[in-house]
Amino acid sequence: MCGSRYDRGGKSYTISKFIEGVIEAGAKAIILDPTGEYSTFDTHSKVDHSTVITDSYFPYQNLTINDLFVLFRPSGQVQQPVLLEAIKSLKVANCLMGNIPANGHSNNGTQDIFTFRTQQVVVQNGLIIKQNNFTAPYNNAYFIYKSIIEDFSHNHFDISILHKQIANECYQIFNDRWANSRDERNYGNSTSLIMRVNNVISDNDYSGMFGFNSPTTSNLITKVNDFLNNPDLNILRVGFENVPYNFQVREILANSLGRYLLNKARTNAFRENPLILFVDEAHQFLNKKVKDEYFESTELNAFDNIAKESRKYGLFLCLSTQMPRDIPVGTLSQMGTFITHRLINYQDKEAVASACSTANKETLSFLPSLGSGEAIIMGVDFPMPISVKVDLPTTTPKFDTPKFKIK
Ligand SMILES: Nc1ncnc2c1ncn2[C@@H]1O[C@H](COP(=O)(O)OP(=O)(O)O)[C@@H](O)[C@H]1O
Ligand SMILES: [Mg+2]
Repeated sequence: MCGSRYDRGGKSYTISKFIEGVIEAGAKAIILDPTGEYSTFDTHSKVDHSTVITDSYFPYQNLTINDLFVLFRPSGQVQQPVLLEAIKSLKVANCLMGNIPANGHSNNGTQDIFTFRTQQVVVQNGLIIKQNNFTAPYNNAYFIYKSIIEDFSHNHFDISILHKQIANECYQIFNDRWANSRDERNYGNSTSLIMRVNNVISDNDYSGMFGFNSPTTSNLITKVNDFLNNPDLNILRVGFENVPYNFQVREILANSLGRYLLNKARTNAFRENPLILFVDEAHQFLNKKVKDEYFESTELNAFDNIAKESRKYGLFLCLSTQMPRDIPVGTLSQMGTFITHRLINYQDKEAVASACSTANKETLSFLPSLGSGEAIIMGVDFPMPISVKVDLPTTTPKFDTPKFKIK
C-alpha cells in the first residue's frame, strides 16, 4: 500500500478498515504499529496489544549474533573476534552450569570446577576464567556442546555479564594454557567495546526492549504464541511507540519479530490458519543495511524473505509506506497487490510502476489527484487497475503525531 508523504492519502484509515475486515471474518492478523496510531483498537474484545518496553520485551536469546553485532558495534579486526570469543565462552559456561555432571565437578565456594582428563575448566560467577588455565579442557567442553554454541541464531547465555567475559578473553595462549598476566595491548583495544556493551546492557530502554536484566514485563514471543493459540482473538497490536529511533533498534526489533514469524511459517504453523502481518510506515523497517566505518555491512532482511517465500506458508505481508522508493526493489516486486493512494513524487510513482506489472502511464497520472481515501488497486490479480473509494472505518486510527525519541 503506497501513498504520498506530502499529503495524507488515507493509508492508515485503509489499514483500519482492513483490521475491521479481519475481525469480521474471524481471521488473524498482527499489526506492527510504529507510532501507537492503532491503539484505538485496544479496547476491542477481539484485539490484544503489547507495547514494547512498557508491556513486553523481545528476548535477546532470539536475536542472532548479527543482531548483537549491530547493537554492540565491535570494530573490525580486534574487537570482533574478542566479542565472538566472549559469547562462545559464555555459551560454554551456560552449557556446563546447565548440565552439572555427577562426576568431574566440584565447587569450592566461589568457583565451579569441571574436570576433563585431569585438567580443569573454571566457572566463576557465570564467567569462564581463562587466566592461567589450560586450553584443552575448555576445548573439550566446547566440543561437547559445539552444536549449541555454534547455533548463532540463538543466544543462550547470560548477556548481563558479557562485558566482564570480554575482559577475560584478553589473555594470550602460551603453549597449552592462557597466560597468567593480561595482554594489555589487547585489553586496551577492547576497552571501548567493553564500555559499549556495558552501556547498552544497562540502558533502561535497550534492557526493556530485549529483556537484558531479569525483565518484569512479559515475553513478546510468548504473547505472540498466546495470541495465535487463542481462538477468541483476531488482532495483536505490537506497539513500537516507546521504542527509540537510535542505534537502529527499531529495525533490529521489527526484523527479529519478522524472522520469528517467518521461521514459524516455515514449520507450517499458518498453513491451516493463515496470518496477516501488517507493517505501517514500512520504510522505517525495511531496506536497512547496517554499516559503519568499521563494521562490514549486515542486512536486516527478514521482510525481504517474508515477501519472497511466506505466501506459500500462509503468512501474508501487508506493507504500507509513503515512500515506496525506499522499499527494496526485490521486496516491492514480490507484492501481489498494490493499493496506491495519493502519490505525488515522481520517484515514488516510478518505484510502483517498475514493481507492478499492470501499472500503466495513464493510471499513474491519476495518482497525484486522488482524494483522501481514494486509491487505485493494481496487481497480478487485477488485469485492469481498479479505482476505489475506501469506506471510513468505524474505529479510526489516532491522529499520528510521531514522537521522535532520540537519545
Ligand atoms: N476513506 C476515507 N474517506 C474519507 N476521508 C479519509 C479516508 N481515509 C482517510 N481520510 C482522511 O485523510 C486523513 C489522513 O488519513 P490517514 O489514513 O491518516 O493518512 P496516511 O496514513 O496516508 O497518512 C484522515 O485524517 C481523514 O480525515
Ligand atoms: Mg499513516
